[in-house]
Amino acid sequence: MLDLGASPGSWTLYAAERVGPTGRVVGIDPASTDVTLPPNAEILEADAFEVDPSTLGGPFDLVISDMAPKTSGQRHADQYRSYELVMRALELAKAVLRPGGAFVAKIFQGAELEDARDGLRSVFGKVRIIRPEATRNESYEVFLVGLGYRPPT
Ligand SMILES: C[S@@+](CC[C@H](N)C(=O)[O-])C[C@H]1O[C@@H](n2cnc3c(N)ncnc32)[C@H](O)[C@@H]1O
Repeated sequence: MLDLGASPGSWTLYAAERVGPTGRVVGIDPASTDVTLPPNAEILEADAFEVDPSTLGGPFDLVISDMAPKTSGQRHADQYRSYELVMRALELAKAVLRPGGAFVAKIFQGAELEDARDGLRSVFGKVRIIRPEATRNESYEVFLVGLGYRPPT
């Protein structure tokens, strides 16, 4: 699987455990991490906007993105930057996902959420917005989930 916004590595570690020794997790983040990863996982120090998907060793069954912009305090600007990160994650997913694969991406809730959902609907059989219980009151982060990837023909 591909793990975008992987540093400092908690999700990568968890994913590596879940995919097991025969699976593989590739993380991407411009921020360095010194976490010790198992042999089936790596985190590449790279920006998702600059990475060439053909170098990542796909195809993958799952692409996840926990990418978040550095918040500026201007809610609308932050929401838009979060939307741009999700759309880049989706672009990468289209380049590396196996047919039938899945996508999960964090997004700051805002005016662009519907656009992002429409972007997923164009290539996934099922699309859901999930608000984790832990963030229900405080946060305006939600997760977009796409299941059953259908490559564009
Ligand atoms: C909430 S943290 C991720 C935490 C991580 N999932 C974990 O479990 O440890 C958000 C991350 O998104 C990364 N990020 C922001 N913009 C990015 C980009 N353009 N490409 C890749 N990662 C990016 C940040 O560097 C930051 O480490």
